[in-house]
Parts: sequence; C-alpha cells; structure tokens
Amino acid sequence: CGIVGYIGFRDAYPIVIKGLHRLEYRGYDSAGVSLFDKELKVYKKAGKVSDLEAFVKDVDLGGTIGMGHTRWATHGVPSDRNSHPHSSGNRKLTIIHNGIIENYGVIKEALLSKGHVFKSDTDTEVLIHLVEDIQDVTGLDLREAVRVALTKVIGAYAIVIMSADEPDLLIAARKGSPMVIGVGKGEYFIASDATPIVEYTKNVIYLNDNEIAYLSREDLLIKNIDNIVQTPYIQELDLKLDALEKGGFDHFMLKEIYEQPRSIRDCMRGRIYPEKGLVQLGGIKEFAGKLKNIDRIVIIACGTSWHAGLVGEYLIEEYARVPVEVEYASEFRYRNPIITEKDLVIAISQSGETADTMAAIELAKEKGATIFGICNVVGASIPRTTHAGVYTHAGPEIGVASTKAFTAQVTVLTLMAFYIAQQRGTITESKLIEQLTELNEIPELVEQALKLNDHIKEIAWRFKDSTNCLFLGRGSSFPVALEGALKLKEISYIHAEGYPAAEMKHGPIALIDDEMPVVFIATKDSSYGKVVSNIQEVKARKGHVIAIVTEGDTEVKSMADYVIEIPQTGEAFVPLLATIPLQLLAYHIAVMRGCNVDQPRNLAKSVTVE
Ligand code: G6P
Repeated sequence: CGIVGYIGFRDAYPIVIKGLHRLEYRGYDSAGVSLFDKELKVYKKAGKVSDLEAFVKDVDLGGTIGMGHTRWATHGVPSDRNSHPHSSGNRKLTIIHNGIIENYGVIKEALLSKGHVFKSDTDTEVLIHLVEDIQDVTGLDLREAVRVALTKVIGAYAIVIMSADEPDLLIAARKGSPMVIGVGKGEYFIASDATPIVEYTKNVIYLNDNEIAYLSREDLLIKNIDNIVQTPYIQELDLKLDALEKGGFDHFMLKEIYEQPRSIRDCMRGRIYPEKGLVQLGGIKEFAGKLKNIDRIVIIACGTSWHAGLVGEYLIEEYARVPVEVEYASEFRYRNPIITEKDLVIAISQSGETADTMAAIELAKEKGATIFGICNVVGASIPRTTHAGVYTHAGPEIGVASTKAFTAQVTVLTLMAFYIAQQRGTITESKLIEQLTELNEIPELVEQALKLNDHIKEIAWRFKDSTNCLFLGRGSSFPVALEGALKLKEISYIHAEGYPAAEMKHGPIALIDDEMPVVFIATKDSSYGKVVSNIQEVKARKGHVIAIVTEGDTEVKSMADYVIEIPQTGEAFVPLLATIPLQLLAYHIAVMRGCNVDQPRNLAKSVTVE
C-alpha cells in the first residue's frame, strides 16, 4: 500500500493526490484522503486514485494538513468502507495504515465488549479505536496514547494519524513497513517511499522500526516506542524526478524495458575493468576475505527476484565453485533452516521492503550467517539490515511487472559470481578478461535485441487470444523461462508455466495440442542439441513453437513456427539477452488484450505483508 502525508503552509490535497499517483504502483484497490480545515474530513473510494479524484471533485478540499492512502487489500475486500483513512468512534481521529495488525481480533473483541462499533472489516480501524479507548480510559494526550496503543499491537505497520483536536500534528510510526519523512522549510512530507517527496525536498529521514515521529509545522520529534527521544539522521535523496515519469512511452513497463541498455550499463559502471580482468564491488569488499572460506551460499528472494537468484545459482556455481541454494524467502523462514556462520546469505529484492525477505534475513542473521543484499531502492529496509551489499542502480521501477530490475539483478549476480571466483582463485585472469570483455558488450547487444520489437509484436498478435502458454529452457535459460511465464501471466492473465525443457516429458507434454504456444529458449550453448530434440517433441504433437535462437541459426528455424534471433554472446550472458524478447512479448500481448500492464489486477509492486 502507499502512504503520503503533508503538514505545512501549502494546500495539502494537491500534494497528497499527486503523491498517491506516484505511489499507486504499490497498491490500487482503493484510495482515500483525510484533510483538516476547520474540521476533519475523510473522502475514500474503492478503485484507483483517479476514481477518488472524480469522487471528490465537488467537495471542499481545503487544508494545509492532510494524508492519503492507496490500498492493496489484506483484511476485507476492496470497498468504500474498507478503504483508508479509518476513523475512531468519536470521529476525532483518522488513520492510514500499511501492514497487518496480527492480534487485531483479540483487541477488537475487547473493544466490542466496551461498546465500540466498527464500520469496516479492517485491522486498521481496530487500531484507531484502541487509541481512542486508551485516551478515554487514561486521559493521556494523543502522542502518548498512540505510543501506548502501539505497545499493545503485534504485527507490522506504517501508520499516520491525524486529529480534529490537534490540527498542527501528524503522528507517524513504523514497524516493519517503510516510512520516509521529507524535511522542508516550515513543512514536512511523509510517504511510504521517497517518490512523492522528491519534487519538494531532497532531505529525508528514514524512520526506523519502533520509531514514532511527531510532526508539526515548526518541528519534528522522533521517539522510540519506549518513549526515548531519537536523533534523526537527515540524508540526501539521490532520485531524479524524470525517472518517475513515462517520458513519451505508453506505459512505464515499456519505458523500463527500453531503459535496459542504460540500466545494465549503470549497474556495471565502475565495477568491471575488462582489460585488467578485475571486478570491484565496493559494497562487499570488507568481506572479500570471508568469501574464501564460505561453505555455501543461500540466496533468498521472492517473485522475479527469486528468478534472478536462480540465474545467480548457475553463475556462482559455474565460476566460483561454491554450492548455492536458492530459496523462496517465505519458505525458508518457516522451516527452521540449517544455517551456520560459514554460510553466506544473499537476499535479493528490488524494493528492499518485501516482508518475507526481510524476515528471512533476520532469521539468517540470528543464526550467524553473513548477509549480502542486492537491492534497487537505495536506503530501503533490506539494504539497511544486511551486513553488506550491492545496489543494482536500475533507477526507480514503477511498472508492477519487474523488467529492468530483473536484468540489473542478474547483472549484479554475474559480477558477484566473478568477484567470488576472483577471491577464491577459481577463475584465471585470462578467462576473466575474456568474460568481462563479453559482459561489457551486453548493453549494446540489449539495444540490438530491442530492435526485434516489431517482429515480436507480430508474434504477439498471433497468440494474443491463447489461454495457455508454456515456456521452456535448460540450464540458466530455465529461470529465464520461468520469468517469461511470470511476465505473461502477471500482465495478460494468460495461464503460463515455465519448465526445464527436459522435464516437459514428465507432465506438461500432456497439454500440448494444436492450440498450445510453446516458447523455447534455444540459443547456441551447451544444451542446444537437447533443446532441439525437445522442440521436435512439441512439433510432433502439433504445438506452436516460438523459439528464441542465436542470430544465424538455421536448424531451429526450419522447425519452429516463429524464431526470434538474439545476438551471439557468451553462455553466461544469455539470460540477459533472452529475457528482453520475453518481456516485449508479454507486454504486447497484454496491451492487445486491453490489460492494464502497469497495474495488473490483484498485484502490488512491493509486498510489505507476510
Ligand atoms: C511483488 C512484485 C514482483 C516482485 C516481488 C518481490 O510480487 O509484484 O514484481 O518480484 O514482489 O519483490 P522485491 O521488491 O523483493 O524484489
């Protein structure tokens, strides 16, 4: 979900609504605002932020303090009444909330028995009633009542509270869900990430877990949940406004696909020296010595980041000769994993906020492992929790379906594989020179791959009405197949599955008939011959084959219905190139089906609930 708040001298509503548009990629089931101007007002609506705007077009939107929320439903269906902000029983307090209050049921029962009446099914409404109840029973002022209430809740939250009685106060608090405060002159901004703040100020404070911020027009006070005053650390944002706009493209996703030559280049900048056969990763260099002695690497991630992890597994095992396991963060944390001090854990997360990944890191940390992060959002919770890390520098990714962040993650993992190999002496200098020289060319080759767009559009047209699709690949092209399937299903709602090509015989082959499109990654590498046999198996059953091949390939061309020729590169770098046509294929099919590619139904960009 997205949170935005403002207190200062300007009209709050335009700032809040613009902020909600910027944050909409975080959740878009419903939206709402709360403003104070003589009285406390709440307007909320199921649907997109634009639905909220239409809804409030004739009402009074005055006030120089306000907050807004865009929701990704957890408790209660998306509806007007479950939308945020929620109000206390006496209507004097309003709250917006990201996260989940796990013990809301018990609290709700206690409050119901005291006569509280709830209007929604949400955990959030329970929390604001609890604050009111504490005030009623103890007479505490709002600041204290909020703090006491937060000591009673279990779960994760980022909240902002406004009060009709205190129009010069916004209270914000976080635990496990991100919150950034923008510091202006005589004004403050609050948001769940920096995107709504950047156009007003570059000075930000990242609230830490268990901190509560009290913002008035004059000053800012931060305390921890034990009531001890904290010294805020103001840092400068490195985020450019044009990175948050579509820049002439129809969708953020397409813009981000086309940014990849640049984002991959940015990701490698200052890190590789092909002529010297040298990789430098400043963020993890302190641990270079430790890398010599690790027994095992465990990669933890979710979604697309998990797919990047699988590519990383191939590369690290191949070059650094360390066993690698790749785990879904959500599975890892719930099964008492075997982790020791000799393990290196690499957590991958675009947003740096995914709750399951965060919790998995905490667990691995407790067990004494060294944790590296691979994140895109600078200053997010995960990079602040890990021992060391490497940023992907892909720039803000707004499209919910991850594209440039994925290729940047794969790039970092490639660099890490070489870096670890370098430390462990499992790669020769001449080999490294050769590999880095090829890697250095990847941005240009991605540029060439993007020229396939029109051809891919034609293929998309042919298959846009399919109901199913298979994606097959071997070796490090298997995770590429998984990612291709995920892209298609996420944004076009066509059922798609990724499989290791050889495993097709053990199940998916049963699905193949003359309706079924099968996308093969069949580039010229060590498993080429085997993949060719798999293609024949599909053709023998009348499936439609779309094959991603290496430029100049004739063998697959004679068998497949459609081929997409990508430039020749080293085997290690094929995932970076083969991903591009799959992203474009998913994009065009989704657009042709009339889907909202940037904000696919039910999804959210960063999942800060478990
Ligand atoms: C969500 C997003 C995915 C993303 C996953 C992990 O499901 O929709 O695109 O891959 O979370 O997010 P992270 O920010 O940790 O990479």
